[in-house]
Amino acid sequence: MKMWVIRLWVLLLLGAAAAELEGLGGINRSRDYSFSDDDVVKINEEELDGGFSTLDGMLQWAIGNSNPEKLKETAKDVQCLSTSDLKERQWKIKEALEQLKMPSDAQLMQIAIADLNNSSLSLEEYHRALQELLVLVEVIDNANDLNNLGGLAVVIRELNNSDQEIRLTAAWILGKASQNNPTVQKQILNFGALSKLMKMVRSSFVEEATKALYAVSALIRNNVDGQKLFYADGGNLMLQDIMRNSGMDIRLRRKSAFLVADLAESQLENTDEAEPIFFSNKLFLKSVVDLTTSSDLDLQEKALMAIKSLLQLRSNEAGRHFKDFCDLDVVLERMRKQLQQLMTVETHKDLAMDMESLRVEVEIVFRKKLEKVPA
Ligand SMILES: *[C@@H]1O[C@H](CO)[C@@H](O)[C@H](O)[C@H]1NC(C)=O
Ligand SMILES: *[C@@H]1O[C@H](CO)[C@@H](O)[C@H](O)[C@H]1NC(C)=O
Ligand SMILES: *[C@@H]1O[C@H](CO)[C@@H](O)[C@H](O)[C@H]1NC(C)=O
Ligand SMILES: *[C@@H]1O[C@H](CO)[C@@H](O)[C@H](O)[C@H]1NC(C)=O
Repeated sequence: MKMWVIRLWVLLLLGAAAAELEGLGGINRSRDYSFSDDDVVKINEEELDGGFSTLDGMLQWAIGNSNPEKLKETAKDVQCLSTSDLKERQWKIKEALEQLKMPSDAQLMQIAIADLNNSSLSLEEYHRALQELLVLVEVIDNANDLNNLGGLAVVIRELNNSDQEIRLTAAWILGKASQNNPTVQKQILNFGALSKLMKMVRSSFVEEATKALYAVSALIRNNVDGQKLFYADGGNLMLQDIMRNSGMDIRLRRKSAFLVADLAESQLENTDEAEPIFFSNKLFLKSVVDLTTSSDLDLQEKALMAIKSLLQLRSNEAGRHFKDFCDLDVVLERMRKQLQQLMTVETHKDLAMDMESLRVEVEIVFRKKLEKVPA
């Protein structure tokens, strides 16, 4: 929403209320009800991002941000009004407000999309339009509307923008819109945006890489077609590279481990689908197991989750690699000792206990797997 539009609305709102007051009897007409610029409070970024999804929200905001002295005076005046006067006044204000109707989310999306599609606008205005879409697509109905309004195509086009902030926001929008939404996942996959997003994961601009990986995960989560495209495009190697590189941003490494767990889990649920061979590739498995040596507990936990799912896949080869190549039994024993120690630290006790129970689960699954593996 453009700043001046909001300012205008607030001005009109307060103005309408004042006009109503003035128009009714019993009110001191000499009092000044005109509104100075101070009444229309400066709107900051945060408030804009929150948006006013309802008229009520905007009213509350307008009241909360207007001059308290003036409001107090107004309240006194209102006390002099009779019930029927008040009712009439309420009705009139309501009528006035209805004429000032807030645009619907669909209209707001249309404006943002048209702005993104207008090459004569400034970078600043593109940023604004993308920020708006980012908030709007959080609502599932809006996410579902995005493609019908031509929004996906223009947002995907911005993945190519030379401005990195624009690219990352576009990726973020695609991630948000496709989260737990098979319809939007499919639409974005049909645009062929997955491979572009995967390239962005390799960006040296870490914020861009993080948002791109977020979008990739959202796009292929519980989506077998998306996962196939991801594998065909070398997604497993991409994840392996990130996991193996201890110099990589920790958020990227956590997200990668989490995605591995998620993909293995999905494989367990879709037993009809052939297991991709990298799931039993020893280098891939080792890149996951080695995450347990990280000093980051969150990363360790995600690695355990991934190992647990990977161990439950059909491949016996993987069981052998976990034992012989990754030394999983040694790793699990070392973790057990570390977690025992961590439990003595009061601030870490709960987390350590949770992780220990996960570690025990991994150990059980590992033993079971080894029973099936011929020596
Ligand atoms: C009207 O307002 C003026 C200025 O605030 C004040 O001096 C005057 O006494 C008020 N008159 C009435 C009838 O309230
Ligand atoms: C693009 O933006 C410019 C500047 O705001 C405006 O004059 C023009 O009408 C817009 N073009 C379209 C196609 O909306
Ligand atoms: C973007 O603009 C082109 C023409 O410049 C038009 O053909 C297309 O429909 C527009 N897309 C959207 C989503 O408005
Ligand atoms: C991005 O740019 C590349 C190379 O210039 C081009 O091949 C591709 O189609 C563009 N993608 C989008 C979504 O515009």
